Amino acid sequence: MRGKHVIANWKMHGGLETNAALLHDVLAGVTGLPEAVGVAVCVPFPYLTQAQALLRGSRVALGAQNLSEHPQGAFTGEVAASMLNDFACRYVLVGHSERRGLYGETNALVAKKFAAALAKNLSPILCVGETLEERDAGRTLDVVSAQIDAVLDHVGIAGFSGALVAYEPVWAIGTGRTATSAQAQEVHASIRARLACADAGVAEKLEILYGGSVKPSNASELFSMKDIDGGLIGGASLHAADFLAICRAAA
Ligand code: 13P
Repeated sequence: MRGKHVIANWKMHGGLETNAALLHDVLAGVTGLPEAVGVAVCVPFPYLTQAQALLRGSRVALGAQNLSEHPQGAFTGEVAASMLNDFACRYVLVGHSERRGLYGETNALVAKKFAAALAKNLSPILCVGETLEERDAGRTLDVVSAQIDAVLDHVGIAGFSGALVAYEPVWAIGTGRTATSAQAQEVHASIRARLACADAGVAEKLEILYGGSVKPSNASELFSMKDIDGGLIGGASLHAADFLAICRAAA
């Protein structure tokens, strides 16, 4: 049996005061949650220290939203995987569509970042997903397969045993428009099938999260699908009550 995860992506939101209040409420709310549901928050880099201190000893794991493909060096403004280790990060988002779309991250770069995370024992959360234009052109599965294959070719199937995948259709992110559970399930199943060609065992154990306007009102339906193993939550993760309701839906 695969586990389930609900992971918050705060994106570029937060502040010392609001973070403390939000994490306080999340920590209070997760106590009643079954252990089978893993919970994590991916915070902006400057708040890693704060979040590490507040989450220490709790069941809520810490993650970052990006990392450099390089281990160290003259890369002004970049953050290395080893630096994330210093703050006890367990997860790091790789290839979020906002990184791909707004900052030009290619499949090849995303594959290098994925490898950099694995090299420092971080669990990369590989984000994949198509734009509306690509979906309308009937290219969804091709686009997502190419995003998966770039990483598979670079790190091999074994790399996926330490990772998670998040399917996040770009048209559903922050738009209030969610993929239907059937649309999401189709893509999740195709990702698993693709990886199963390389290693059925790894593919079966891989957690594939859905992201894109997940809310308390649609989470249960999405998470009830066979290949949807939880969610990567943007907007709703900034409100403790909504995030916790989504966590409960994964239980
Ligand atoms: P929303 O939940 O705000 O649509 O964001 C999804 C997302 O991009 C999480 O990484």
